[in-house]
Amino acid sequence: MLATSRISRPEPRIRAAAIVAALLLLLALGCTRGMPPDPARALLRREPFKLGRTVASSSGLVVCADAEAARIGARVLAEGGNAVDAAVAVAFALAVTHPQAGNLGGGGFMLVRRPDGSVDAVDYRETAPAAFHPEVYLGTDGEIDRTRYDNPYLQVGVPGTVAGLALAHRRHGRRPFHLLVEPAERLARAGFIVSPLLARDLRLHRAKLSRHPSTVRVFFHWDREPYQAGERLQQPELAGVLKSIATGGTDVFYRGWIGEAIAQKVRAGGGCLTAADFRRYEARLRDPIRTPLRGGELIGMPPPSSGGIAVAQVLAILDSPALHRADPVGPQLAHALAESLRRAFRDRALHLGDPDFTAVPVNQLLSAAHVKELRGGIDPRRATPSESLWPVPLPLPEAGGETTHFSVLDRDGMAVANTYTLEQTFGGGVVAADLGIFLNNELGDFNPKPGDTDRAGRIGTPPNLPAAGKRPLSSMSPAIYVRDGQVEIITGSPGGRTIISTVAGVLLKRLFLELDPEHAVWSPRLHHAWLPDRLELEEGLWPPQTLEVLRALGHTVKTASSQGAAHSIFRDGERGYVGVGDCRGDGWAAAPTWFDGDEER
Ligand code: GLY
Repeated sequence: MLATSRISRPEPRIRAAAIVAALLLLLALGCTRGMPPDPARALLRREPFKLGRTVASSSGLVVCADAEAARIGARVLAEGGNAVDAAVAVAFALAVTHPQAGNLGGGGFMLVRRPDGSVDAVDYRETAPAAFHPEVYLGTDGEIDRTRYDNPYLQVGVPGTVAGLALAHRRHGRRPFHLLVEPAERLARAGFIVSPLLARDLRLHRAKLSRHPSTVRVFFHWDREPYQAGERLQQPELAGVLKSIATGGTDVFYRGWIGEAIAQKVRAGGGCLTAADFRRYEARLRDPIRTPLRGGELIGMPPPSSGGIAVAQVLAILDSPALHRADPVGPQLAHALAESLRRAFRDRALHLGDPDFTAVPVNQLLSAAHVKELRGGIDPRRATPSESLWPVPLPLPEAGGETTHFSVLDRDGMAVANTYTLEQTFGGGVVAADLGIFLNNELGDFNPKPGDTDRAGRIGTPPNLPAAGKRPLSSMSPAIYVRDGQVEIITGSPGGRTIISTVAGVLLKRLFLELDPEHAVWSPRLHHAWLPDRLELEEGLWPPQTLEVLRALGHTVKTASSQGAAHSIFRDGERGYVGVGDCRGDGWAAAPTWFDGDEER
């Protein structure tokens, strides 16, 4: 008989020790019901985030072009950082893991909406050097000189990213700046696993990249083969730069050794950037574009981005009851969207540029009367020839395309929409020697030849001609939509001029057609840029009948490869907030998680 199986009461001293131990354990695991989740304790249980193509969460979200960077952002949120802290950490991380567009050597735009409704529009676009002038890309014959225009060093503007991130952080950040740079530094030093997307892009752009020994040293093996998916890529020089920024802040970049080294490299290649240009650089706060839409407010970026005005114009033109139940892949919607884009891009060419150099009639372009006039000019039975919208006979280089967008929301409702870029994929392909930083080729976004606007899409209108200290016109369109005081959508995209079409399309599908978040992002896209006068539709995604009807309406239809990568966040009823990574751009969503007992929050 096991009479001893009866449990005897422990000694009072042992009992007290056991109770204390149990309480300590409960505290350590953070599982006291009803207490606010403590992320530090969640760390004891598991990684403090969940990750997927689509993630629902009411505890904050990060959606961006790379899983590692998304994890870093979610960890910042889990550790008590706000949306701006997470955005800063993601932006530095993407400079390591997504060198196609993530950057320290480029620039961009960030919208920050605080829970009290106030908005910061941070312009950290690159700026032309003091030696720039309207004829900078012309030869003695007055024609575009390809050796000048195609020289990547002559397209490098003063990078704005470090200043822009620091400005947003100074105004809103909660965590120390250096803690937000350090994860990127660690990734650069220890290395990260090359994704299939990065490996593909290194292969695709091999010719451009392999022209520059400083680039080859970082992204190619000794046998001049680019890094492959699954290999570990270390960037010790970039890690050194990140360490300097973490400890020295913006001064080491704009007044210290980093800026001086970049300027030297650019001048050695035939460009004209100087250390004085770096010293003059400032990230700027602009007045955001705020327009009423469908019972809420659309917030966009003002010039020198054309995105906020163009997207708002397109949606205002389309905001009629007829379209609200339209088939998302039918010809009626495609035609209406194409015609609206055509008109918005015409206005863009005529009126938009750096507001410090050109008077932009923002209110007039967004006025009800102007929108009504644009809408009235659309014939539902016929495509409008683009040339008929131009005051003089016409010639745009196709804006090359890479950029990256990410969206962040914290659990207090602070929202960040950030789009930044090197201009083309990997910029001009030049890594600054000993720094590991890709240089931008953003100044190629200026109109290259005064007066030269052609059918192929080259634009030569005055507002966006090159000038000293000027910022080139951008299409980047970070956007936040708010209704009833709550953020409903955070979106944006890469893709040169197609950015405007992509962002307008996502907003249109969610707000007008009421598609679910996944379909708003993943469904087929189209693009029209006024000139060239053609309608581009994503290949293989649109029904053939739609293409036939569009041709019959008079559109020159062209199929194009995938358009954009709109890594977005949506408010979606009972699901709370949903982060949707765009599969077109290897998008990932990540959210912090806390455990309350066994319950995930
Ligand atoms: N470089 C792309 C843009 O600014 O639109």
